[in-house]
This record gives sequence, structure tokens and C-alpha cells, in this order.
Amino acid sequence: MCGIFGIVTANNQVLGTTLIEAGRRLSYRGYDSVGCASLSDDGTIDLRKDVGKVDEVASRLNFSEMYGKRGILQLRWATFGSPSQVNAQPHLDSDGDMVGAHNGNVVNNNELRAQFIARGMNVRSDNDGETCVHAVELYIDQGHDFVEAIRCAYHDLEGDYAFVIGKVHEERLYAIKKGSSLVVGLGDDFTCVSSDLPSILPFTQKVVRIYDGEIVTLHADGIEIRAVESGERINRPPEFIHESMEAVQKGGFPHFMLKEIHEQSTVAGELLHILDYSDQLETYLDKVSSARNVYLIGCGTSYHACILGSVYLSQLAKRPAIPVLAPQFIAQYAHSVDHQDVGIFVSQSGETKDVLNALEVAQKRGMAVLSLVNVIGSTLMRASEAYLPLGCGYEISVPATKTYTNQVIAFLYLAQKLGSYQDLGLYKLPELIAKTISIVEPKVSQIVSRIKNRNDFYCLGYGLTYPVALEGALKLKEITYAHCEGMLSTEFKHGPLSAVTEGFPVIFIAGPQDIPIIVSGINEVTCRGGYAITIGEDDSRLHSNAHDVVVIPSTNTYFNSILSIIPLQLLSYKMSMNLGYDPDYPRNLSKTLTVD
Ligand code: M6R
Repeated sequence: MCGIFGIVTANNQVLGTTLIEAGRRLSYRGYDSVGCASLSDDGTIDLRKDVGKVDEVASRLNFSEMYGKRGILQLRWATFGSPSQVNAQPHLDSDGDMVGAHNGNVVNNNELRAQFIARGMNVRSDNDGETCVHAVELYIDQGHDFVEAIRCAYHDLEGDYAFVIGKVHEERLYAIKKGSSLVVGLGDDFTCVSSDLPSILPFTQKVVRIYDGEIVTLHADGIEIRAVESGERINRPPEFIHESMEAVQKGGFPHFMLKEIHEQSTVAGELLHILDYSDQLETYLDKVSSARNVYLIGCGTSYHACILGSVYLSQLAKRPAIPVLAPQFIAQYAHSVDHQDVGIFVSQSGETKDVLNALEVAQKRGMAVLSLVNVIGSTLMRASEAYLPLGCGYEISVPATKTYTNQVIAFLYLAQKLGSYQDLGLYKLPELIAKTISIVEPKVSQIVSRIKNRNDFYCLGYGLTYPVALEGALKLKEITYAHCEGMLSTEFKHGPLSAVTEGFPVIFIAGPQDIPIIVSGINEVTCRGGYAITIGEDDSRLHSNAHDVVVIPSTNTYFNSILSIIPLQLLSYKMSMNLGYDPDYPRNLSKTLTVD
């Protein structure tokens, strides 16, 4: 959680614009508050920070004029300490001659803070980023050099984190990784370090990945990496990343979310191509078909893809697979799995802490680890025996859209390969996705104008559309802040039906095979005054029973389950716009949740 960026240059210069640019590209990681510190030759630290998003705070506090040889930026997603100016990062040490910022969680924050206060240190905030700075200060004050002080602090700071830190009258910054991601960029006369690649690639494509338990010292002309435990130097050659940064521009769309919804057709085609030529597929299929039990493990949207994936695997490949939320996998199944079982870990980022916790347990129990992951080079990808990339490129908007669609397409592809008797013609999907986007928009806008004042919804599906209902409900609540519960349609009458009063909106997702049962559900709602919105193929039974029908292209039941999320993504987007929210950065959330 949170994002950090640090840069070391050869000469004093305006660093503010570079820090703002890096901040914009990291802002999917947290946007409760933002801060910058610049360190110049005269021994001063210019620290500016406040609550708000990068551009707001940057213009309020004139980040663009910040000057120096070294700079640190942090974007915060609050865990320890409320989102406030004082808890915003970076933080100073007691004397104000050292500054640092972190990403992640220091779980013994309260204990350490109490110790630092008892020692008379100047602790200004509740935030665990400040605790990292004081933890280093403690050992510097005892006479250790910087690297040694960080090595000692590393043992005191419990949890998963990465931090970057620097001191006046030095030419260096230092960064350490324990659990949270960290990448270094090497330029001609600068080096930089960040939580993620998108903030580095505009400046340099020469990068070095830092691994857990490593400290990196950044000089303007190079870096040194050391192992925390042994103190030994580690030599790691840089990699060249040939990625286009176009993907992190909005490309004419008002929001990344809308752009990413529209990209679904293209990336679906790219995924199918990747899968057809994947050298990992054979291992994948072998492991899945020979396993005793297969678990599909993820969180949030990725978990919803797991549920739909399990239906595909069961129906098409006769391969039962158990979808489970990552933390619940530990509680419910960790005790009963071993080397005979396989886990398919599903994650956009490949860095979600809840998923990595489950991965660690699965590995300890000897399970085979496979993954479906979007971010190449992520921790999950690297830990997997075989992985299939989602091929979506950067997904910047916090609400997952294109990665969900490619997750379910990947599952459908696997199910079809394992079943091997039915050719669904998956290459028709990109065109069907594009067609769905273009035909549903006007109807979706009409529905938004009818339900815009409501803030309580249900979203109901059945069979193949049950996971779609869960995902649609998540999208709606995530970016409109309304209450929306996704549910199996037949469960509605077992309790929640009591919520229905005049005009109460209920959204139904009708797979072509389930229209009779959905029609029953619709009538249970409408006869009590509820307002029924249905997503489905052009079918007179839906038109004559529901108030509104969003018609999607007629196709087979499997493709239907993929297409039917699109109207819900657009509905959520348009509702969010209508309310004046920013769907890319919904309040309180972050794209990558690297904390417990
Ligand atoms: O990166 P991951 O797929 O592991 O992330 C898991 C969830 O945090 C994520 O899917 C979240 O639910 C989405 N932002 C919802 O749109």
C-alpha cells in the first residue's frame, strides 16, 4: 500500500516536476495524502505535504518549485493514523536532518512509537512511516553508519514494507525492501527508486529489481545492493524494459476506467494469442488435470473471476475446482492440502498481500502453484511454477475491468482445452465485446437517469451469471459509494426481498439458459413495487416482465457470462460520473493492497 519514489541527481536542479510526474503514475497505489521532500547542498530539507491527490496538493503547495539534488515523494493510503497533514509522508527525524517515507505496514508501530517517545525522540505523528525514520535515527545516533543503521532498524520493524531515506550533507539515498515491491531505475546522471515501474519508465528503461531483505544505496552515478542479513554486496545486472508508456495515458478518454472498458475487446484478442503461443500452458494443463483438488484463489474482482472459472472448469472440463477467497483458503483448506493439490492464484497486480499470504501457506504445504497474473515480474508471477499472463498492459483505474474480463476468458480457454471436445470459437469474443460496448451505452444512460437518486441496490444472477452479479455489485459500490449486494437470484426470496418497497431497484442478469428462473425472480420483485432492470439477450420474456432490459448480443451461454459484465461496468461508471465522483480513484481505496 502507498507508493514511494526517490531520486538522486548529480547537480542541484528543480526536482518538483519529476516528483509530480512520478506521483501521478503511482497514484493508483494511494491518494489520501501526498508529500515531497527535496534535499539540497546547503544542508536543508524542503518538506511539503498535505491531504489530497497529487495534482491538488502539488498546485496548493507549489511542488514544481522544489529544488535540490535528491528528492523523495510518497502517496499514502492510510492504515496507521488518519489521513491528515501530520500523518502524511515523508517524515523527518527528531532533529529534522533526515527524511524518509515508506510503503506497507509496520505492525509493531505502536510499541516502537512508545519506545521512541520514552527515549525523548521527537515523534510528531501516528504514522508508521515516521517510525521507520526514527528506527534508523536510533542507530545513527549510536554511531552506526547509514547502511548499518538500516540493517539494525530492519530487525526492529515488524511487518511488510519498503522505505526510502536520506540525510542532509550526503549525496545518497537508501532504500530497503521487506515484503513491499521496490524497483530501481538507472539514468545517465541520476538513479531513482520506486514502488513500481510506471513511475520510473518515463525517466529510464534501465531497471534493477530489488528483492526482500536487500538494501540499496543510490548515488547519482550508480547503485550498490547489499543483503541485510550478511551485509554482502550483491551484483545484479540491469534489465531493459521495452514497454510503451502510452498505456498509462488516458488516450482521449475522460477517465482511465472508460478507456480500460473500451480496451477490453483488443486485450481479449491479445490474450487469446498469448495463450495460443504460451510455453507454460502444457505444464498448466498437466498440473490441473492430474491434481487431486484444484483451488482457485483470489480477492475482490479476481475472486469473482475464480467463481466463474470454477463453473467453466466444471461444466466444460468436468474438472471440479474450489474457488476461495485467499485469506479463507488459509483458514479453511491449508490444513488439508498437500503436494497432490494445485492452487491457481489469480491477481491483477500479483502483489496483493492477502493472496501472497495464501501463496506462502500453499508453498509450505507442498502444493503446486500456478497463477493468472497481469503484472509481469510481480511477486506472484515469480513464485509460480507456471503462470499465464493476462496481457492487459497497465490497468490504472482502481476498479478492475479489463483484467477481470481477461481472467474469465483465460479460465474459459483453460476449460475448453481441458475439455477438448467443444470448440467455442473464442476468437469471436473480441468482436462481441466491442459490439456489446457500442450497443448497450444508450440504454445504460437511460437507466442511470431513472435510478440516479437511489443508493441501495441488489444485483442478482443465477448459475453462470451469479459471479457476474457479485462483480457488478462490487463495481457499483466501489465507485458510487452506494450499497449494492450481489447475490444468487433464488436466495433473494430467503430474506433480502423484505427490503423491496415502491421503486426499489433490483438488477437481474439473465443467462439465456436461465430466463424462466430469472423471470420468476423479476416478478417476485415487481409485484411488491420493486423496479426490475435486466441484462440479457433480446428475449420477449425479459421485455414483458422487467421495467428495463439492457440487450446484449445473442450468443452461447459461456460468452453471455463474459459479455454481461460490460453493461454493469458502464452503469457503475456513468452513475459515478453523475454523482461527481472520480471513478479512477474512489475514496478510501487503492489499486494494489499490499497490506494485511
Ligand atoms: O491485484 P488483485 O487482482 O490481486 O487485487 C484484488 C482486489 O483488490 C481487486 O480485484 C479489487 O477488488 C478491485 N479493485 C475491484 O475493482
